[in-house]
Amino acid sequence: MSVATLSFRDRTPCAELLAADAPRGGVTACGWVRTKREAKDFAFLEINDGSGLANLQAVIDATADGYDLLAAVATGTAVALHGELVASPGKGQRWELKATRLDVIGHCDSDYPLQKKRHSDEFLRSIAHLRARTNKYGALARIRSRLSFAIHEFFQGRGFHYIHTPIVTGSDCEGAGEMFRVTTLDPYAAGAAAPDDDFFGKEAHLTVSGQLSVETYCLALSKVYTFGPTFRAENSNTSRHMAEFWMIEPEIAFADIFDDMQLAEDLVRHLVDFLRADCAEDLDLFTRFVDKDLDARLAAIAGSEFVRLSYGEAIELLKAAGRRFEYPPEWGADLQTEHERYLTEEHFKGPVFVYDWPKEIKAFYMRLNDDGRTVAAMDLLVPHSGELVGGSAREERRDVLAARIAELGFDEADYWWYLDTRRFGSVPHAGFGLGFERFLMFATGVSNIRDVIPFPRTPRHLEF
Ligand code: 4AD
Ligand code: MG
Repeated sequence: MSVATLSFRDRTPCAELLAADAPRGGVTACGWVRTKREAKDFAFLEINDGSGLANLQAVIDATADGYDLLAAVATGTAVALHGELVASPGKGQRWELKATRLDVIGHCDSDYPLQKKRHSDEFLRSIAHLRARTNKYGALARIRSRLSFAIHEFFQGRGFHYIHTPIVTGSDCEGAGEMFRVTTLDPYAAGAAAPDDDFFGKEAHLTVSGQLSVETYCLALSKVYTFGPTFRAENSNTSRHMAEFWMIEPEIAFADIFDDMQLAEDLVRHLVDFLRADCAEDLDLFTRFVDKDLDARLAAIAGSEFVRLSYGEAIELLKAAGRRFEYPPEWGADLQTEHERYLTEEHFKGPVFVYDWPKEIKAFYMRLNDDGRTVAAMDLLVPHSGELVGGSAREERRDVLAARIAELGFDEADYWWYLDTRRFGSVPHAGFGLGFERFLMFATGVSNIRDVIPFPRTPRHLEF
């Protein structure tokens, strides 16, 4: 029997069969074998095609075509099964496939690493090309996909326009210099080459944020967003940082920092509501096996107002917490993970916006407040994931912005087009960046960011 004899083009996804409301004849299901159990003259195969979490169980008896192939079928083998969808007499599933025919589509070598039911996350990371075949990583992939859709749904439903901002850039958005260089010159060759000799005739980098570009479109279309990969060469080996991550960056014109926080709150709420309604089966896996507090944490989002707190108030609150922090809270210093955790997990037990930060620890484009020492910046801190959102009102006054650029020692010439927008009908505007993987951690309880993206990029790791 060969592959060509069975038309797998007629296949029905397993999830669709499992959700059927009546028995059905003449169906074909394809997938990868999760388990095989053999009795004397029949066998059970459970297959999964990634259309959903649940496996489809097939019963194959000795009279089925291809029964002789069973010996060569193992966990991981790709098969096609043809037969009848019938009510399952067994426990655990409503329907099963009574197979009249089995075809092997792709054999699986005996050293297939996913034999056991449970593997450590560390091990699965080392086989990232196969881990989507497990329940957990299949569920994560589906949730990631559905939430991407929900992000577009949220913005498109509110009149925002999706702007494709560039990946290769000539400017440093965050001004922190943590950028990857893009070049066609051989960086390992002897003798220095000048930027002038390079592809673009100047230095080029992978973008750390689409913000500066999307701002220019905001000042034309009023409500815009970008959603794409961003890159940071920060050498921090934490469970919350990667060198490549995805960011959602809306930008709104005629708006201030409070409009900005409201938008971020609405977005997070929408994504949580969507997730709980749309991905219930996959989400349940995380509630049961990954994070027992997950359900309560997500339910709390729906029912509560997000706290809004100025940075100064946050520092006072931390000082009054009556506990020894490793880093004593001090006006002017960045909040540490231990501070974020105290605020979100102990004190407020939910999401907290911290706004009006000291200008010294924030980016150059943030709008200077009247006190001269803080900027209209906001971070949204959440339990479990820490900083989920970073955003601000943008400095729309050309002279103030230029002074800030000079003060930080940047070259005004590098930002000429950004400064131009402040000359030609500048308006107050604001925006933020929501780290998509941070949100996925929050939404699933997964504690290492490397596990919520298919192929993580971190210092000294670039496999797959
Ligand atoms: O706070 P950040 O650096 O803000 C910006 O890039 C702004 N330009 C965004 C804007 O206003 N349009 O980053 C935004 C968010 C963080 O709050 C965090 O969720 C995530 O991006 N993030 C990272 N996620 C994974 N790995 C990293 N290395 C990250 N750095 C930031
Ligand atoms: Mg930030």
